[in-house]
Amino acid sequence: MSEKPAVLVTRKLPEAVEERLRRDYDARLNPDDRLYGADEIVERAEGAVAILPCHTERFTAELIARLPAGLRAIVNFSVGVDHVDLAAAAARGLIVTNTPEVLSDATAEIAILLMLGAARRASEGERLVRNAEWRDWSPAFMVGRQVTGKRFGVIGMGRVGRVAARRARAFDMEIHYHNRHRLAPEAEAGAIFHETVEELLAASDVLSLHCPATPETIGLLDARRIALLPEGAIVVNTARGAIVDDEALIAALRSGHLFAAGLDVFNNEPDIHPDYRTLDNVFLLPHIGSATHETRDAMGFRALDNLDAIVAGRAPRDRVA
Ligand code: 8YV
Repeated sequence: MSEKPAVLVTRKLPEAVEERLRRDYDARLNPDDRLYGADEIVERAEGAVAILPCHTERFTAELIARLPAGLRAIVNFSVGVDHVDLAAAAARGLIVTNTPEVLSDATAEIAILLMLGAARRASEGERLVRNAEWRDWSPAFMVGRQVTGKRFGVIGMGRVGRVAARRARAFDMEIHYHNRHRLAPEAEAGAIFHETVEELLAASDVLSLHCPATPETIGLLDARRIALLPEGAIVVNTARGAIVDDEALIAALRSGHLFAAGLDVFNNEPDIHPDYRTLDNVFLLPHIGSATHETRDAMGFRALDNLDAIVAGRAPRDRVA
């Protein structure tokens, strides 16, 4: 039997990360990258000191109660932790960590891609060209909205929100934001703070969501709030699908109240609300906010730093429960 501590890794991770895992742990890897169900997680975690999962595994209170007694930690390969019942984990004495900071640049890049893709009808245009349906050109053809100089509204001015705001400034956009707490002036960098979500919405030509999915933010962008956005606004979501009421967003995209939306995250991924697929004015991506080689490596190493600390009896840097 190996003397190294056993770790269950639920998904296939970058080679360099798996190499370090194999070097330092009895790493139970998933080379086929299969999605494990709850029973398989319980079984494979037997004798492990920690599980290293992604957001694709849901650690409900029920699953947490079934995890082997010797398990000490859930070391996430993700910044979002809405897939883990943190209260249930804490009640069982499990340490839970995440991977903040290292994915802010990659996710902000996708937010800007979604903003531009939605504003300039990129999905529609790409399909026309790809399907050989582009027949003609006219001044009225594929006219979109310009974002330069417009107002970029951010809900959740955390690490990702601040980088997205910085990138949006390159388009001379005026930054507005709502956050639980107002930022210090250096972090604000001239951004205009709104005490309430409602006030922010009225000031957002582009609304970009960057808050975590928590009981306070689930369903936050509902029909009432969408109605407060200016006519022709654009909604961008790189945070979590659960923040948005799909029916309300789809209705506003259909009515034309919203010009377009750019979405990288959805309720019930990957079985998203089917109506999104039928709308021309949505630019859709399959949850790839952090999917760059640089960031995936950095997320893995950050998770392993947390794991190393836990195993050594030190406080992990990114403890969330
Ligand atoms: C990751 C994310 O791809 O880190 C997060 O919270 O949403 C994504 O960027 C995914 O969660 C990895 O588990």
